[in-house]
Amino acid sequence: MEHVIDSKQFSKETIKYIFNTADSFSKSRGEPLRGKIMASIFFEPSTRTRFSFESAMIRLGGQVVSSENARDSSSSVKGETLEDTIRVIHNYADIIVLRHPDQGAAKRAAAVSRVPIINAGDGAGQHPSQGLLDLYTIKKECGKIDGIHIAFVGDLKNSRTVHSLTYLLGQYKNIFISFVAPKALQIGPDIKEYLLRHKVKYEERDQWWGVLEKADVIYQTRVQKERFASLREYSMFKGRYILTKHEVLKMKKSSIIMHPFPRVDEIAVEVDALPQAAYFRQIGYGLLVRMALLRFLLNPTKAHHK
Ligand code: NCD
Repeated sequence: MEHVIDSKQFSKETIKYIFNTADSFSKSRGEPLRGKIMASIFFEPSTRTRFSFESAMIRLGGQVVSSENARDSSSSVKGETLEDTIRVIHNYADIIVLRHPDQGAAKRAAAVSRVPIINAGDGAGQHPSQGLLDLYTIKKECGKIDGIHIAFVGDLKNSRTVHSLTYLLGQYKNIFISFVAPKALQIGPDIKEYLLRHKVKYEERDQWWGVLEKADVIYQTRVQKERFASLREYSMFKGRYILTKHEVLKMKKSSIIMHPFPRVDEIAVEVDALPQAAYFRQIGYGLLVRMALLRFLLNPTKAHHK
């Protein structure tokens, strides 16, 4: 695997290898990426993804060059194309982490890059490293992946993290997915087609009563404000599903709440103290998974797993 564009690229065996590496990094890690440089180029805002990738690289002994606001501070302001920017940066770094508002941008970057590209979000497309860390969270918190019932809630049309995690779940057994969203923000036909092909059972609904009580995982999402044509349209959907103590009381004791963050108003702060709230632990797992992913891509001889 050279570039990481789409979560469909990961075989079960590779996932297992990356998760085992993540487990081992929670104990000891050494500096396997000493001498390597990661460039992070972000054309959209980010807190967790950029900081965790940069921290992961540094913790493994590598170094980082970064443009946190490439839209305003890279030569794209002067009219440079994404392709030219990549043709420049691949001279300076061993791996490039790219976030961009256009769907398909990571694929375009990969087409011209001599070093691996990691898609850190391409518009409403994919966010594969988040998909992996979400899957790792499920494994850690639920003790298994096969057989889980997960409910995705909110803006499922535009949430790239949902798209990436759904593709990954498609490889596991007896998964049941409830897509809870207003009709206009429901999951796209491409994902449904994929699930049908992989024989994954799912349902679509616009309210969560009856699901909260049964699901093992409630995966909350933010309404993706930046993907709407107008603020008016956005405000029609904002605040539809708000998880408070009242809703969490209906959930099973063993179930968990996940959220890729940032949260706006989808989860009341009072929920943070409840045992089901797994979203801050999810962020911690993310660092380990991104360390494992960087090691996998940059140090293939030592990372070889077959
Ligand atoms: C998400 C993203 O950027 O897609 N955040 C993240 O990377 N953890 C989710 C979001 O912005 O809502």
